[in-house]
Amino acid sequence: MSSSLTLATVITGASSGIGEALARQLAATEKQTLVLVARREEKLLALAEELTKAHSIRIEIICQDLELPGGASSLMNAITARGLSVDTLINNAGFGINDPFADMPLDRIQGMMQLNMVALTELSHAVLPGMRQRQQGRIMNISSVAAFQACPRFAVYGASKAYVLMFTEALAAEERKNGLRISAVCPGATATEFHTLAGNHGTFAAKLMDSPETVTRSAIAALNAGQSVVVTGLLNKPLPFFIRLMPRRLATWFAGILVEREKAA
Ligand SMILES: NC(=O)c1ccc[n+]([C@@H]2O[C@H](COP(=O)([O-])OP(=O)(O)OC[C@H]3O[C@@H](n4cnc5c(N)ncnc54)[C@H](OP(=O)(O)O)[C@@H]3O)[C@@H](O)[C@H]2O)c1
Repeated sequence: MSSSLTLATVITGASSGIGEALARQLAATEKQTLVLVARREEKLLALAEELTKAHSIRIEIICQDLELPGGASSLMNAITARGLSVDTLINNAGFGINDPFADMPLDRIQGMMQLNMVALTELSHAVLPGMRQRQQGRIMNISSVAAFQACPRFAVYGASKAYVLMFTEALAAEERKNGLRISAVCPGATATEFHTLAGNHGTFAAKLMDSPETVTRSAIAALNAGQSVVVTGLLNKPLPFFIRLMPRRLATWFAGILVEREKAA
């Protein structure tokens, strides 16, 4: 790998929510070149302009649909073409849909699996050789508290986040000896566009939300400390412990109650 490449932090899903908050926090604190990735160009352009002015750092935007098969490799090609090498990868882009599995269009299910799991896995695979060679690098994969039990109405989403959690913990264990820091971040309900897109209006989960800034502060601290899993938000932290104590069927029922929509009057 050529040493003329500039090291960069890549954030997928940086056009809103948790990804945008991560970009703001990292631009202010780390001063490394940032690569902001999402589909909505105007949002990325506005954020890049604001952060460049405020912090005098180099910011690149790349518009890439990561639901498309081959999206991860197109993104890696675009990063290399800009003379950059990935020092920190934040796999944040993701979405969920609040509906019974059988009622969801198949193409949304396929897109969700491609974005939440396949692209995240392919990007992790692409950046690890360079990180190993430098014996330096960080990967943050955004999972969810949905990862700790089955999630009725979010069957594929919950399963995809369980995949992210297990995959990331295993990767952290494999790569610790190579000096790499790898974390799975498990937020609870967070006030972002996620809930509008998922159709979470009127659910109990949507009433008790953390801010994206609260999530990102814990997430970045955990990544820097080399913590392989972090559950963000004070109310969420004990959840995995209590879920382990519950019969699985009770934990599944409870998760379903949290995302049941209020019946229209
Ligand atoms: N909000 C919550 O309650 C919550 C809780 C736990 C975990 N999470 C996880 O947190 C992560 C961030 O979500 P958020 O809450 O910040 O939601 P959000 O505001 O909807 O942000 C999602 C981001 O992903 C990008 N994205 C969506 N589809 C994409 C695609 N096909 N290709 C590339 N980028 C795509 C979106 O940008 P474009 O639309 O511009 O492409 C956006 O920047 C997700 O992985 C989510 O599962 C959220």
